[in-house]
Amino acid sequence: MQNNATEITQKGLAALNAANDQQTLEITKAQYLGKNGELNVLLKQLGSMSPEERKTVGAHINECKNQFQAAYNAKRAQLEEAKLQAQLDAEALDVTLPGRTQELGGLHPVTLTLQRVVELFHSMGFDVADGPEIEDDFHNFQALNIPQNHPARAMQDTFYVENGDVLRTHTSPIQIRYMLDKKEPPIRIIAPGRVYRVDSDATHSPMFHQCEGLWVEEGVTFADLKAIFTDFIRRFFERDDLQVRFRPSFFPFTEPSAEIDIMGENGKWLEVGGCGMVHPNVLKNVNINPEQYTGFAFGIGLDRFAMLRYNVNDLRLFFDNDLAFLKQFKA
Ligand code: PHE
Repeated sequence: MQNNATEITQKGLAALNAANDQQTLEITKAQYLGKNGELNVLLKQLGSMSPEERKTVGAHINECKNQFQAAYNAKRAQLEEAKLQAQLDAEALDVTLPGRTQELGGLHPVTLTLQRVVELFHSMGFDVADGPEIEDDFHNFQALNIPQNHPARAMQDTFYVENGDVLRTHTSPIQIRYMLDKKEPPIRIIAPGRVYRVDSDATHSPMFHQCEGLWVEEGVTFADLKAIFTDFIRRFFERDDLQVRFRPSFFPFTEPSAEIDIMGENGKWLEVGGCGMVHPNVLKNVNINPEQYTGFAFGIGLDRFAMLRYNVNDLRLFFDNDLAFLKQFKA
């Protein structure tokens, strides 16, 4: 009987060893350790033995069962480990592959320049106003004191579209729209946007960007214009000692009028914009009493500001869409 148990156990251990999947393993376990398993069946025969014999044989059978159980546990752990390993192998990721990243874009240098201008004027209490790029003759010219057939129109070579409308030649029509809309001073705005003129070379493009400034209130003077603009442009270029010059000039919609020049690194004056006190006719055209209110206006070329700030010598680079150029401005 003892030998019998040993034999069965050897057979069982071999079967466990041969089991290569969990199902076979469980079946093998049931065959030997199940209720009617071969080793348990042996136990049932103990009843017919003498007490002496029963004790030693019983102990031996239990030892065999323990041995089988231990072998089963080990095999089960081994199969589980192998299964996990197979799964890991199947789902393996090659972490050495280069990742698929999304390239981040950047803001255009003219947009960066505009943001800076808006920020600086915002800090001085100016709101931002907007207007259409296709303008009618009234807003682009007439209300700005440029009558039809007046020679001053020749200052701005214009793209005409249907019905005598124009691609706006400057941002000044936004002044008119804002004042007609707002009606009552105080008015303090800047108005950036695209403008169009029949003009094209290294420093002129048929489409370019301007930013208009307008402050209308009781008691506003040319001194305020000089102070505000000088403060702005020194902060823009981060140079407290930047020399600024207001050179007498002519615009139909301002009186007196001036061109604004700054001193370049090369010691030469460089024109950056036009300005002046809003002409009384313009105020009348938008129903503001010029006896009570005065105001100043200016217009700057944003592209030129961008060229100066970033040291770009050809305006056309801004509009070529060359990534090698544009990437340099990525913030
Ligand atoms: N609109 C003018 C231009 O485009 C500039 C300007 C604006 C001048 C406001 C005076 C006042 O040339």
